[in-house]
Amino acid sequence: MIESADSSTGFGHGKVILLGEHAVVFGQPAVAAGIRAGVRVHVSPGTGAISAPAWALEAQVGDDSLPGQAVRRLLERLNTDGAGLDFWLESEVPARAGLGSSAAMAVAIARAIAARAGAGEAEILAAAAAAESVFHRTPSGIDAAAASRGRLGQFDKQNGWRDLPLKAPFELCIGLSGQSHDTGALVASVADLCASTPVARRLVDAMGDLARASMDALAEGDVAALARMFNMAHGLLSGLGVSTPTLDDLVHTARAAGALGAKLTGAGGGGAVIAIAVEHGDEVLRRWRAKGYYGFTTTIGHD
Ligand code: MEV
Repeated sequence: MIESADSSTGFGHGKVILLGEHAVVFGQPAVAAGIRAGVRVHVSPGTGAISAPAWALEAQVGDDSLPGQAVRRLLERLNTDGAGLDFWLESEVPARAGLGSSAAMAVAIARAIAARAGAGEAEILAAAAAAESVFHRTPSGIDAAAASRGRLGQFDKQNGWRDLPLKAPFELCIGLSGQSHDTGALVASVADLCASTPVARRLVDAMGDLARASMDALAEGDVAALARMFNMAHGLLSGLGVSTPTLDDLVHTARAAGALGAKLTGAGGGGAVIAIAVEHGDEVLRRWRAKGYYGFTTTIGHD
């Protein structure tokens, strides 16, 4: 696409949460990484149209749709009127699949607007977070931070994002369930479980402990230990009620193909799983494909 002087572009990364999803909403740390795949937006003079062909999305800034409301909120935060702009989105990240598509979109748009309005990083993140709260009601902020930073880091609600040291890049297999999910509803379901059955908080706290322990494994390059933590985390997330038979099947298929560890990533209830397979990545993808699941690999620590 040729950009005119009046147009601008922005990019936001997709993300994977390695450890600590859901627990991060309760104030625990989580470890996440922005991935290479993401969302690019082209902003140009227009009539407030929001188009994302990859997601079959056609909306208008301020209409009743979630994207329409989210973009309106984002633009308000950046003191910009979007009625005179069009937003054309190219996405390599599937929507509602646990890979942070909405945060990637929000960061991409905030960056493109910031490029026109001269806003800085903090304003970009605040605007993306405002859009995310339309999509996910009470997000922790981890998706927007990972989408903006695009690399490995830890996040907690009190301190925000901090880049994490990684001894060596490693490959992750990502498998898609093909089932979309509602992150806000899943976050609410975990809160309800903890309210009705307070012992569930121990699972949440254990998720936080795994996230803390994983930081040492990443710094030491111990992917086998990290993979074992993936397996433990999947059990905990199942206990919190956010896995599904399809996610369990993806996880068990990956392990049977030789993966050292596999877990759901993100909110669950559909979406995606991640697996560490070292020399067996091709076999994991082959077996997922044989069962009708789409999978791909990404490198963590890709700088
Ligand atoms: C969603 O990617 C991660 C959750 O922990 C929700 C959040 O942190 O906002 C499930």
